[in-house]
Amino acid sequence: MKQGLFITFEGADGCGKTTQIELLDKYLQEKGYKTLLTREPGAKGLGEKLRDILLNYDGDVSSRCESFLFLADRAQHIDCIIKPAIADGKIILCDRHTDSTVAYQGYGRGLNIEEIKHLNAIATDGLKPDLTIIFDIDVETSMQRVGKEKDRMESSGLEFFNRVRNGYLEIAKQDPKRVKVISSSDTIENIHNKVIELVENL
Ligand code: TYD
Repeated sequence: MKQGLFITFEGADGCGKTTQIELLDKYLQEKGYKTLLTREPGAKGLGEKLRDILLNYDGDVSSRCESFLFLADRAQHIDCIIKPAIADGKIILCDRHTDSTVAYQGYGRGLNIEEIKHLNAIATDGLKPDLTIIFDIDVETSMQRVGKEKDRMESSGLEFFNRVRNGYLEIAKQDPKRVKVISSSDTIENIHNKVIELVENL
C-alpha cells in the first residue's frame, strides 16, 4: 500500500461510520502506518467554532449560508490539516467530506448539484479522495440510532433524510471508481472486514 492516502467516509447520521473509522484506524496503526483521523465539520481550532454554529445555532439558517459554512470549514481543513498530513505520508481517514455537501445541501436541501460540486472543487483546491466509502442505511434505522436528542441537522425530517440517502447512492453510481457502498445492516465485524478489503485494494 502506498503512503499519503486520503480516504473519506460518508453516510446518513447514525450509519455507524465513526465506529468503522476508529476500527480501521486501529488496524492500520497496528500494521505500522501513520494515520490521521479527522472529521468535517470541525476538525480543530476554527473548525470547532464553525461546527458549533452548524450543529447548534437555533435561529434561521438559509441553505446557502449553511453550505458556505460547511465549505469554509472544508477550505480551512484542507489547507491547514489535510494537505500537510498528506505531505507527511500519512493515511488520512476523514469522517465526512465533499460528498456530504452534495448529499445534504444538494440532494437534501435542494441546492443546485453542479454548483455545489464546483464550490467543493474551490474549497478543496482540487484535491480529491483516493477512496470514499458510503455506509448505506435505511432512514428509519438511522433515525432510531440518532435517538431523541437531535442536533440542528438531524432535526431535518424523514423526507430530507430519504433524499440524502438517494443522493449518496446517486453519487456512488456516478463515480464508481472512487466511491464504494457498504450496507450498514450487517455486523460491525463483517462491515470492518469489507472496509479493510476496500482499503487493501488501494
Ligand atoms: P456529526 O455529528 O459529525 O454527524 P455524524 O456523526 O453523523 O457524522 O454532524 C455533522 C452533520 O453535518 C451531519 O448531520 C451531516 C452534516 N453535514 C452537512 O450537512 N454537510 C456537510 O458538508 C458536512 C460535512 C456535514
